[in-house]
Amino acid sequence: MKVAVLGAAGGIGQALSLLLKLDLPAGTDLALYDLAPVTPGVAVDLSHIPTAVTVTGFGKEDLNKALAGADIVMIPAGMPRKPGMDRSDLFNINAGVVKNLAEAIVQQCPKALVGIITNPVNTTVAIAADVFKKAGTYDARRLFGVTTLDVIRAETFVGELKGKNPQDVTVPVIGGHSGTTILPLLSQVDGVSFSDEEVASLTHRIQNAGTEVVEAKAGGGSATLSMGQAAARFCISLVKGLQGESVTEYAYVEGNGEHARFFAQPLVLGKNGVEKLLPIGTLSSYEQKAMSDMLGTLQADITLGEEFVKNN
Ligand code: NAD
Ligand code: LMR
Repeated sequence: MKVAVLGAAGGIGQALSLLLKLDLPAGTDLALYDLAPVTPGVAVDLSHIPTAVTVTGFGKEDLNKALAGADIVMIPAGMPRKPGMDRSDLFNINAGVVKNLAEAIVQQCPKALVGIITNPVNTTVAIAADVFKKAGTYDARRLFGVTTLDVIRAETFVGELKGKNPQDVTVPVIGGHSGTTILPLLSQVDGVSFSDEEVASLTHRIQNAGTEVVEAKAGGGSATLSMGQAAARFCISLVKGLQGESVTEYAYVEGNGEHARFFAQPLVLGKNGVEKLLPIGTLSSYEQKAMSDMLGTLQADITLGEEFVKNN
């Protein structure tokens, strides 16, 4: 098994790579790629941790080597937000980053499972999909926008509010990964009930949790440690799927197009990536309204990515 992390020297990349060094199965090759000159050093640093995962660092010129034969590619490469910015403000820089990396994936590992973390996820996933489509290598089962952070945040906040261990709480989060497109389904949380005020304030907090971190870091970037953990959890689920286990996760994928071309939803992972799309279940009237209110925004984010590939 080979896992490549693109953007491995960044805030998320380093946290993710550390957790993967600790948790990937014995015998896995972990390839770290970044433009930053420190990347080979990050790999040497991690290589001193005594696990049977081999870590190799690849510098700026060695993207193809980093990707060659990879089974899984995780992409946290690109610019993070500063206070006052929306995720969509990252489009101008990050669209090109994801397009270039996706083009290299086409050449080096067209069958890899690809997890996109780079924002704006609603748009960058559409960019990667259409780069793969243009090249004739697209398989919708193998491309994911990583929305696990929304799920772990929702579980944390519900646990805090209701005095439960967050590890015993499961909260579905569907839609996209920005603002109102992030839709937690609090009506589906087992064993807990919420007042209307609690639903409104929890939903708002989950939708704005990224901004909460951006403001607290005061210009020093966005979530990196919680995102590193979320990405590692998702990557390990991809690995388990490849090994034949059926694992349920939420991710932003091209499904049946019922709500939008790409939509975060529950799914079962297996040997080819998405094995099965699961239904989103029954929504409360509050959730139904929130969903119909946000679909226009989500669709516009997707169209932006589609147009970018068409015109570049
Ligand atoms: P960071 O600035 O700490 O790290 C980004 C890294 O990407 C840097 O090391 C940089 O050198 C590298 N990079 C830039 N262009 C590259 C390229 N073409 N190829 C390889 N590497 C390249 O940023 P971060 O905090 O790690 O965030 C990375 C991205 O993840 C941002 O776009 C951020 O918005 C996004 N993010 C997404 C989620 C999510 O839930 N999906 C959560 C948090 C952050
Ligand atoms: C997050 O949700 O923390 C990320 O998407 C980063 C951001 O810009 O908020």
